[in-house]
Amino acid sequence: MSTLQERIDQTIANVADFPKPGIQYKDITPLFLDAKLSNEIVDAFAGISKGKVDAVCGIESRGFLYGIQIAQKLGVPFILVRKAGKLPPPTVSESYDLEYGQATIEVNETYIKEGMRILVHDDVLATGGTAEACAKLIEKCGGKVTQFSFIVNLEFLNGAEKLSRFTTDIVSLTA
Ligand code: PRP
Ligand code: MG
Repeated sequence: MSTLQERIDQTIANVADFPKPGIQYKDITPLFLDAKLSNEIVDAFAGISKGKVDAVCGIESRGFLYGIQIAQKLGVPFILVRKAGKLPPPTVSESYDLEYGQATIEVNETYIKEGMRILVHDDVLATGGTAEACAKLIEKCGGKVTQFSFIVNLEFLNGAEKLSRFTTDIVSLTA
């Protein structure tokens, strides 16, 4: 009987040279073809966060997919962190560096309450720039990031280093 981690590993597709030559892309979309596995993933994430968070922030777009299900399972609010220009005001913004250029994410500041304990959820932790920007955004709004969760952590990129000043509670279901 294989473990949840092994089943996730076997299901995620590793696509060579996408979106650019030399990049090995982790395609998580096959996970969503398997309803039973997806339910187990949501249960595992919810178990990891139970009693530790007051809300879940999911990062557009792939952080929405399990993120809202985790929040609903925990019985806490789900807050969408979106790419710039998608959310109506009042919003706060945070910009971060990509390999080429910059990106900006935004959140409705009224959804995050002072001292709220927040889980930042996304599908993949790569360089950590996206999750770090999300954590900065949450702190700007008065929230406290108490946990990060990801399906996959690309450990060789050391993304967790950027996140450890917010919390050391950084969880991934697979490496
Ligand atoms: C991917 C992935 C993470 C982020 C990780 O999202 O879903 O959100 O990159 O990279 P980082 O740790 O180096 O910041 P992407 O921006 O490609 O958008 P998507 O989720 O909308 O597909
Ligand atoms: Mg993403």
